[in-house]
Amino acid sequence: MKHSAAAAPEPGAAPDGAPVIAIDGPTASGKGEIARRVAARLGWHYLDSGALYRVTALAALRAGIALDDEEALARLARELPVTFAGARIELGGQDVSAEIRRQEVGSAASQVATIGAVREALGGLQRSFRRPPGLVADGRDMATVLFPDAHLKVFLTASLECRAERRHKQLIEKGFSANIPSLLQELSERDARDSNRALAPLRSAQGALVIDSTQMTIEKVLESIVQEHHRRNG
Ligand code: DC
Repeated sequence: MKHSAAAAPEPGAAPDGAPVIAIDGPTASGKGEIARRVAARLGWHYLDSGALYRVTALAALRAGIALDDEEALARLARELPVTFAGARIELGGQDVSAEIRRQEVGSAASQVATIGAVREALGGLQRSFRRPPGLVADGRDMATVLFPDAHLKVFLTASLECRAERRHKQLIEKGFSANIPSLLQELSERDARDSNRALAPLRSAQGALVIDSTQMTIEKVLESIVQEHHRRNG
């Protein structure tokens, strides 16, 4: 996690916290890359909330814990030895930044994320990222549950085909094997699970800026968000 010097609170800041830009969206919508770049541009902290669910899932897979064992998974999430050092994510001191990006881990993350006690255990950790001068947080429920007072809420999406192609490119670049038909199936299953679960389902928050990035470059999306941020802060 990046630690920046404290700055004067911005106009959009909540009285009890630093300002937040919440970016939610379905898997492979590009929200991680966009959120990281918005944070870098503003000099704010960055939270990849999905990484916490992924690390929990990886720890469960390694420990042989069944993905429906709510009690054991909640305990695991409460005691998760996770550390963020810039872009590097460690589990028990071991760099797992690449491993948590595997499709199998993403799918397991989506399953453990349906458990209330797991979400509760990871909630405090996510809120602790909110510090001056501000936080850019990406996930599924950043605007709806974790930071409902975020001064800018963005719902970033793209067509299923476009997201499958982007994820394919990402996985191949990281040296993992992947193919488009199985990605299409995997992403649509994940969309359904993340959107239809009872707790903190993926939803566009009221008042969110909705961006469909199917036909947009990353730079264009980045500019729209930064411009909207500046517009709201005069
Ligand atoms: O954003 P991602 O693909 O890295 O997230 C992995 C899974 O974690 C996702 O399928 C659902 C879950 N998740 C969640 O439930 N809430 C969040 N805020 C972030 C991720």
